[in-house]
Amino acid sequence: MEVARSIAEMRAIVKDWRKADQRVSLVPTMGALHTGHISLVHLGQEKTEKSVVSIFVNPTQFAPHEDFNTYPRDEERDFSALRKAGVDLVFAPPVEEIYPDNHHTKVEVEGISQLLEGQFRPQFFIGVATVVAKLLIQVMPDVALFGEKDYQQLCVIKAMARDLDLPVDVIGGDTIRESDGLAMSSRNAYLSNTERALAPRLYQEISAIADRVSAGADINEVCTAASKELAASGFKAIDYIVVKDADTLEDPAPGRPMRVLAAAWLGRTRLIDNIAVPG
Ligand code: PAJ
Repeated sequence: MEVARSIAEMRAIVKDWRKADQRVSLVPTMGALHTGHISLVHLGQEKTEKSVVSIFVNPTQFAPHEDFNTYPRDEERDFSALRKAGVDLVFAPPVEEIYPDNHHTKVEVEGISQLLEGQFRPQFFIGVATVVAKLLIQVMPDVALFGEKDYQQLCVIKAMARDLDLPVDVIGGDTIRESDGLAMSSRNAYLSNTERALAPRLYQEISAIADRVSAGADINEVCTAASKELAASGFKAIDYIVVKDADTLEDPAPGRPMRVLAAAWLGRTRLIDNIAVPG
């Protein structure tokens, strides 16, 4: 497995592969890797000969009060997981390589970025879209993989790639869960033992909503009931627990696929999760 710290080094390696007619997949990450990230690597490896993973804790997607400084970082552990997964190249640039002092460009996907997560983290998707646009232009992969765990992020990136005519196939991978249903996340490391025991309640509630809505129940009623259940069980604040159109994330319309999406706080940890409403 090769490791590149600069854009030039990374591009030189990818260029050689392209000369040999080998296709390339990219999985962008912020490190602290778990089975969810590795599942995206394997999905990419099924589609292309070469696989690249980027590790970059992107400062522009963190608000000043958020956890940029304390975000878990363990490069050696990440590298060994990626080596084991058969990754060909890790791109792990320092912040100055991605954001030199004279960097002034931002990418904003209007509309969908302002909904849900955008209400609670107003700059978040600008930071995500900007760094992902840069990574896609830097690596120029044939395929880029993102998790459905961050469902709105996947929708934003698909819209961005389409709008900017980026020649890349953006593919979503299933959410990988712990055996008790909790969606894997680097931030689960922040949970205390008591919070960790409560955390799967979020998945249980959104699963129940999906089943009830699929059976014809009233969306507002089931979402309000789930929100009360979570609050009663010890969740500190429910940012949202909603059923939306699976493509636009706007209010559901008859006959269209739907998605249940939720964000809630357990102590100082914000958990997000989502699930499809069976059609
Ligand atoms: P990060 O949280 O490290 O996640 C990297 C990728 O792994 C994302 O596409 C995310 O959706 C996916 N992922 C996380 N948990 C998952 C799970 N349990 N199952 C399946 N996939 C999962 O998301 C980011 O980083 C950043 O915003 C990034 C896209 C890298 C831009 O900085």
